[in-house]
Amino acid sequence: MSNDEFRAALARLAAGVVLITAQEPPLDEHGRGEDVGMTATAFVSVSLDPPLVMVSLRNDSRMDDLLAEQPLWAVSVLAESQRHVASRFAMKNRISDRLLFEDVPYIRGEVTGAPLVGGALATLECRTEQRVLAGDHTLVIGRVLTASLPSADGEPLAYFKGRYRRLG
Ligand SMILES: Cc1cc2nc3c(=O)[nH]c(=O)nc-3n(C[C@H](O)[C@H](O)[C@H](O)COP(=O)(O)O)c2cc1C
Repeated sequence: MSNDEFRAALARLAAGVVLITAQEPPLDEHGRGEDVGMTATAFVSVSLDPPLVMVSLRNDSRMDDLLAEQPLWAVSVLAESQRHVASRFAMKNRISDRLLFEDVPYIRGEVTGAPLVGGALATLECRTEQRVLAGDHTLVIGRVLTASLPSADGEPLAYFKGRYRRLG
């Protein structure tokens, strides 16, 4: 099987789109670390008791490096109107995400301090329980600490065959 065959097959699995967020550790005891975000579709619900979710992060991506040190992170399940947020936080080789968050409304998670995007269908705050190296990705399994529904009745942003889609 070639890489192209693999990609073409998996591109036919329709997926919801989430934004994973976390705060870099502060540089000193007075500061607040920078917020980092990453668009992801490799996100699943894993267990109800205890409540666990999992995200698969490409090794050496900025979020993978950050979550190797920062156990607290958050998930915002994006709405169809948040396609621009998904595109922005998928850009390669970014140095800083500071400007990217500037016009995105968010509140800070009370447990994680991570940005929870306003207007998301759902937001979760998580603490890493387990990290599993899997090929060129790391599976990060997190215990869900809080769950909210900022925009419970919104329509989801989906990704299918390499494009963002709306349902229906
Ligand atoms: C629709 C979509 C879904 C993505 N899903 C994932 C994912 O599940 N895991 C992942 O590591 N990267 C995923 N990416 C890629 C990351 O968003 C992208 O590599 C990252 O934001 C760029 O930062 P980096 O240069 O540190 O990799 C996805 C990209 C897009 C457009």
